[in-house]
Amino acid sequence: MRSSSPASFIVPQRPVVPGAQWSRDPVVPGDDSRAIRTAPQRTPREVAVSDFRDYLQALEKAGQLVHVTKEVSPKFESAAHVRKSSDTDGPAFLFENVAGHPGWRLAAGLYGTMARLPVAFGCPMEQVVERYGAAVRAPIPPQRAAEGRCQEVVLIGDQADCGVFPVCVHSELDAGRYVTAGVMIGRDPETGILAVGLQRMQLKGPRLFGVNMPTERRVGRAALKAEERNQRFGVAVVLGAGPYVDLASQAKIPHAQPKLDVAGALAGRPIELVRCKTVDAEVPADAEIVIEGEFVPKAREPEGPFGEVAGTYGLLGNRHVFEVTAVTMRSDAMYQTALTGMPTTDNHVQGWPAICESIKRVAQHACPEVVDVHAIGPYYLAIVSIRKRLAHEARNVILSVLGATAGAPQAKYCIVVDPDVNVRDINQVLWALYTRVQPETDALIFPTMVGAPLDPSAPVHRHTSKLGFDATMPLGESRERYDRVVVPGVDQVSW
Ligand SMILES: Cc1cc2nc3c(=O)[nH]c(=O)nc-3n(C[C@H](O)[C@H](O)[C@H](O)COP(=O)(O)O)c2cc1C
Repeated sequence: MRSSSPASFIVPQRPVVPGAQWSRDPVVPGDDSRAIRTAPQRTPREVAVSDFRDYLQALEKAGQLVHVTKEVSPKFESAAHVRKSSDTDGPAFLFENVAGHPGWRLAAGLYGTMARLPVAFGCPMEQVVERYGAAVRAPIPPQRAAEGRCQEVVLIGDQADCGVFPVCVHSELDAGRYVTAGVMIGRDPETGILAVGLQRMQLKGPRLFGVNMPTERRVGRAALKAEERNQRFGVAVVLGAGPYVDLASQAKIPHAQPKLDVAGALAGRPIELVRCKTVDAEVPADAEIVIEGEFVPKAREPEGPFGEVAGTYGLLGNRHVFEVTAVTMRSDAMYQTALTGMPTTDNHVQGWPAICESIKRVAQHACPEVVDVHAIGPYYLAIVSIRKRLAHEARNVILSVLGATAGAPQAKYCIVVDPDVNVRDINQVLWALYTRVQPETDALIFPTMVGAPLDPSAPVHRHTSKLGFDATMPLGESRERYDRVVVPGVDQVSW
């Protein structure tokens, strides 16, 4: 979508969408405390690139963005568009007339199908996982900026009413309105590293959210460390940071490795950050909206149910409480949402490059010649192609992929195939299962062990038994019996 050459471009004039309530009337009459402020008007000058807006443009150019001007409700109707689009390889949406939220534009389905990934990465699908791996291996740290468009409007304290945003209700049994595309950024009180992750947030009041943030998550861990010190944990939730930050937020890397550096490497230049107004965090300067707030130590309140990545509901539970301290945003800010639920839709596609990169990395521990990888559905099925040189190398790959837990693949099933099988073509993978597997010797069943967190069939929370298939051809045998039947000239014919 952009060349990797960086860093800034000239904005001749600032586009303003009529009706964005806060941008039109940013100062509260009689408010001497200046709780609401706007940044000084800027004359045309060099500003940071808006990765989010560039991405929308790139999607539009690729025929993958539709502007919807008819009125659409943020309760179910916007999500229904994304659901249908994800199921039919359709476009992303920019809803320009959101019922109950005049002036707001709602971006949805930005990762609704796998076709988004070549647009976001600017490379063919076959290179996406390798690009992600390269970014993990050669990160680029962020740069600090004095000011950013994400702070053109600053609303502090009571003025920071998050109910104004077109926060959507997505799935039938969801507990209410959920922020689903907010990338959380908070400084780990022990390491000082900016912890980055994406966790759903249930809107419970104008300045109150319930957050599902398990302890294995780095923002969750950092919150626990603050809690042990009896401190409130300040976090910024960023909407519309663009694909590099969105995709890097999913990285399966050690907590000591900053994810914003991975985002920088994906962008091919440092991500520009500005300091938050009320919390000790930094956020992408040109993001659309930033919700600043604090986790309340030791507080847990009911949150859920919510339609989850497994295609089932995450149930009601006692979860973290997040109190909003400020909202900052662009004067013409757009709101971004993501659909979670039945595979495949936004959260599966957004997480796919990171999950596949981690599958490839752990598979390479077992076999140096991993050719390609794929993860299906809620990532419970991993498919790995290898060039094998040893009789049972595929078994080691299965062990490696299914054994890894922390910050790694969530696979319950692993199928290993030869390089002639396209891992992303399920028919070819099934064909390898039909013709290259003897269940008695090539299926490996493992007893219950730690697995993916949201599998409803788990006998014990977070545990599952696992199954691997070695669907590679045996070495040294005559290959002809395994050769695929091919009709010559298929590429040349048309009608
Ligand atoms: C749209 C979307 C929604 C997500 N919602 C949640 C969530 O509510 N809770 C959660 O723990 N993970 C959620 N995830 C997954 C995490 O963001 C992801 O696993 C991330 O890598 C976590 O980072 P960490 O383990 O490094 O903290 C979501 C991912 C996406 C793409």
